[in-house]
Amino acid sequence: VELNVGLLGLGTVGAEVAERLLAKRERMAARTGVDLILRRVLVRDLERPRGIPTELISGQAEDILDDPSVQVVVEVMGGEEPARSYLERAIRSGKHVVTANKVVMAKHGPDLLELAGSKDVDVYFEAAVGGGIPLISTFKVDLIANEIESIAAVINGTTNYMLGRMASAGISFDEAVAEAQAAGYAEADPSADVDGFDAVYKLSILASIAFGARVHPDSVFREGIRAVEPLDFRYARELGYEIKLLAYSARPKGRIEARVHPAMIPLHHPLATVEGAFNAVQITGDLVGDVLLWGQGAGGRPTASAVVGDLLDVAHSIRKGSFNRVAMRFDADPAMLPMAEVRTKAYFRLRALDQPGVLAAVGTVFAEEGVSIASMIQKDSIEEGTAELVFTTHPASDAGLQKARGRIADLDQVKRVCAFLRVV
Ligand code: NAP
Ligand code: HSE
Repeated sequence: VELNVGLLGLGTVGAEVAERLLAKRERMAARTGVDLILRRVLVRDLERPRGIPTELISGQAEDILDDPSVQVVVEVMGGEEPARSYLERAIRSGKHVVTANKVVMAKHGPDLLELAGSKDVDVYFEAAVGGGIPLISTFKVDLIANEIESIAAVINGTTNYMLGRMASAGISFDEAVAEAQAAGYAEADPSADVDGFDAVYKLSILASIAFGARVHPDSVFREGIRAVEPLDFRYARELGYEIKLLAYSARPKGRIEARVHPAMIPLHHPLATVEGAFNAVQITGDLVGDVLLWGQGAGGRPTASAVVGDLLDVAHSIRKGSFNRVAMRFDADPAMLPMAEVRTKAYFRLRALDQPGVLAAVGTVFAEEGVSIASMIQKDSIEEGTAELVFTTHPASDAGLQKARGRIADLDQVKRVCAFLRVV
């Protein structure tokens, strides 16, 4: 079967997709029976030299979207608009689409999938979450017999690289951002990664598919890594944990829990061992038990692996004349578990006056807010006359933990609550 492909974008991902389509066309055709033909490529800057034949390059989206010979549109431009509109136009004109765009899929995925269903075309988006790690197909196909119980993931490579460097080299958040930028992970404006938006988009896509419910990114609790200080890594080690940006979703008693925040993860937990810019996702299903997927969550080549895999899947659908083979349905307005009701263990680090009664005052607040202390460490602080107190707690409601945090900060004997982290 022949498949005519229009490519929107020729950046980090698009260039690798084009390279694979052009350089391996015959090999892929021989192996899969699918001849993937790259027809046109959209770019913004027509002046920049590109490593592909110039007749393929265009500055006009219409050259792809309005070309009736293009059967599938690959969107690797990024950003919400015009990418979303282009995808919608392609679907409306009966083209299949493949996208790596997590922002569009998190915010508009269910609408695009519904539209595609009505037009009998497919929307594939394996590359939108976890780069080259096969996650979407895992939920859509391989684990479909399961009731998914939970998803626990490290799905942002930039923050994982930064947290790893802060832990191993003792550097500050600002130094870690600079290193991540120099290594090509973080953008000039690192907010999407360090403030947790990127992980929220990815979790919202995974949770939506896993639970068959529309988990909008706005309904995912989000806290980034800016507040984590070098000292917390030392305490984490002492207590037997790594600090990671955790993305977690589950469906306890019919309500969906979805949250992204830094967390202390026990050293023996598989997610604690994810290093550098790698990603890992632990899925728990009622039949299969635990499944762990680990790999490169970003980068042109791993992401192109997912995009081209999707293209071949579309081609197989065309060959069989059967689209939406694995239809996805989403409950439009699922009940979400408010963060206040989520129960976790926690870690508090505070600087307090080193005088009688401080521990009693802090302990009273914890007790009154229903928080049970699991362990306590006291060390001299760098500030004369003050002590550093570190508490870990047993599981408590987030409402109780936050109230305790506020009330402890207000105590006369406490100078500052320096850190609060949830503990797995
Ligand atoms: P990128 O390097 O910035 O490339 C974007 C490409 O799209 C460029 O070729 C750019 O043209 C073109 N483009 C952007 N806006 C355009 C517009 N309005 N009109 C025409 N062309 C436009 O981005 P990327 O890193 O490849 O990422 C692409 C997508 O893949 C994003 O959705 C991203 O989230 C997703 N993704 C990326 C990675 C990764 O590791 N990079 C991993 C997973 C998913 P010019 O070349 O002329 O500027
Ligand atoms: N910025 C993302 C990350 C990669 O650091 O994981 C693209 O999804």
